[in-house]
This record gives sequence, C-alpha cells and structure tokens, in this order.
Amino acid sequence: MQTALITGVAGQDGSYLADLLLEKGYTVYGMYVASTRMNSSQVCLAFDNIKHLHGNKQFIPVSGNLMDLRSVEIVIEQAKPDEIYNLAAQSHVKRSETEPEVTRNTNAYGVDRILYAARKIVPNAKFYQASTSEMFGNAKAPQDENTPFAPVSPYGEAKLFAHQLVKDNREKGFFTVGGILFNHESERRGMSFVTRKITYGLAGIKLGFENHLSLGNLDAKRDWGHSKDYVRAMWLMLQNKTPIDYVISTGETHSVREFIEAAAQVLDINIEWKGAGVEEIGMWNNKPIIKIDQSFYRTREINVLCGNSAKAQNELGWKPEIGFKKLAEMMTKNDLSLRNKQGY
Ligand code: GDD
Repeated sequence: MQTALITGVAGQDGSYLADLLLEKGYTVYGMYVASTRMNSSQVCLAFDNIKHLHGNKQFIPVSGNLMDLRSVEIVIEQAKPDEIYNLAAQSHVKRSETEPEVTRNTNAYGVDRILYAARKIVPNAKFYQASTSEMFGNAKAPQDENTPFAPVSPYGEAKLFAHQLVKDNREKGFFTVGGILFNHESERRGMSFVTRKITYGLAGIKLGFENHLSLGNLDAKRDWGHSKDYVRAMWLMLQNKTPIDYVISTGETHSVREFIEAAAQVLDINIEWKGAGVEEIGMWNNKPIIKIDQSFYRTREINVLCGNSAKAQNELGWKPEIGFKKLAEMMTKNDLSLRNKQGY
C-alpha cells in the first residue's frame, strides 16, 4: 500500500488530493500548521475542508511547518512517504506584496527545507511541487512549458525560486516535478480569492444580506479550472515513468467581469455596467451592487493568463472535465445554499 504526505492538506487542493488518494487506497499523512485553538485529537474538525475526514483511519493529520526544518524532518520520519505533495504555501498574490518575507520563507526557502529533509530521509520518494502560472508574469499567451518565466510579484518570484530547486534536484537524480498549474477554484476555495469572493458575495446580495461587493481590476483575464480536475493531474505526474514538469490549464481565458456575469446569471441577477475604470459600477434593480476599490488592485498585474496543456493531455492522458460556466455555477449554487444555512 502506498503512503503519501500532503503539506497544506487543509487547503482546497490539499483536501481534494487527500480525497483522491484515499479513494485510491493510499494512507495519507496530511500536514497542517497547528495552533492553540485546536485539540490535537480533533484536528480535522478545526478545518472546514477536511472535516469529513475526521475519524478516517487512513488519514493521519500531522503538525508541521515549512518554516521549521526540524518539524518537517519529524513529519517525514513519521510518515516515510512514497510520494510527497508540497502544496503548503502563502498562496495569495496580493498578500505577497505586503508580506514578501513570509512569502519567501514559506514558498521558496520552505521548499528548500522539505527537499533537503526528503532527500535525507526518503531519497526514493517522488516529490511534487505546486508550481504556478504566476511564474509567467506577462509573458505572451498562450503559455506552455517553453514559455520563459517573468514573474511580477514576490509570490511568483518565490515560486520560481522553488521551481528551480525542483529542477536542480531532478538533475541530481531525484524524482521531483513542478506542476505549472493555472488558476483553479472550487466550492472549497478560500474566501479572499476573486472567484469565491464573487460567488459568496453575490449569493449574499441575492439573499439581501449585503448591499454590494467591492472588487479590484475587473479586466484581468485568467484561465480558470476546477481544483478536483487539477489534483488528478498532480497524481498523474508522480505516476509518470520519468519526472517531467507539465502545464495544467483549460486553455480558455475569461475576465473577472465575465466570471461575475456567469455567477450572476445563476442567481438571476442582471448586471448593467456603468462608468469605467475605478468609477465603474455594476447595477442591479437600479442599485450599485459591484463597486471598485483601488486597494484590491495589484501593484503589478498579470493581464492575461491562458495555458496550453497539450503536453499533459497527450503524455499523461489528463484533461479538464469542468469548464468555466460549470465552475461558476457549482461555486455559486454552493454559496447560495451555504449563506442560506448561515443566515447572514
Ligand atoms: N483576490 C482578489 N480580490 N483578486 C481580485 C479582486 C479582489 O477583490 N478584484 C479583482 N481581482 C483580480 C486580481 O487582480 C487578479 O487579476 C485576478 O482577480 C485573480 O486574483 P486571485 O483570485 O487572487 O488569483 P491570482 O490569479 O492572483 O492567483 C491565483 O492563481 C495562481 C495561479 O496563476 C492563486 O491561487 C495563486 O496561489 C496561484 O498560484
């Protein structure tokens, strides 16, 4: 039986990957960052995304932090994994502008630490690193494995540093891959990412809990897929005979504005756009429900991300099953029922 270690297990990707590997019969060690809020025998219950794993004997939550080498060594010594999926990160791009050191410490040096510990303790383990399309910056779309990297945020820079470490380790003979994943979202997405902010916010407006939603740049375009599809690609990359980095994307790009419209349609909200730039507002029933707040703008924005995942589709047999419209619909319906239940 295979054993996997997933860092960042309580995140959207970590939790879907845990579900997938458990289904496949793996024993899964899930690394999370502990806090005094939680009771160590009830860790799963402290995180929404892994609540359903509480009591699952094949799932073992382990406390560890990429900022602390010794803690990572202890986790790897305990788990002795065949496969390591390093998904833990400071994953918010905007936050990396105001917390660049935390971002580098986790997303760059943290990867150095876990690679060091893995090589020392389980040199034959296969290692997956969550690399990202953010490394491309404003390189010409569509981006693929041959597109030169040009990050524009501390987040993207730190991720690129880690991607290079993964490559260096591979050249030294270790099975290490960096999956270059484009944006992927879901019903388990963190609330501060734009898609979830939109679906949760619009659901609240529809139910009369909120008057409006404040957003930043509506014209940025992203290639959005569903996290469930993307964790399957992570697993496939580690089942490959040789370690190769792949781009994972849907190949379709849409603006933030289009995502708002797709979510609004699910709620029968007809948005009428007025004005431009920071003065733009989205109106519904003669009320402003979308406003622009400059504080959500990025210092340096990536204007268009659109990936070409042909290599992964041909060589791994991977393909995305959930497209843009379906993604917006699933997230919106989920948030409508969540907010209904919450009653606020
Ligand atoms: N978060 C956020 N909040 N973004 C906004 C907002 C807002 O209020 N208004 C507009 N945006 C725009 C951002 O400027 C950006 O262009 C786009 O929405 C997407 O922002 P995010 O959802 O925060 O995602 P991201 O593209 O910056 O980064 C995500 O994808 C990367 C892969 O390319 C994250 O998941 C990263 O961790 C991941 O690596």
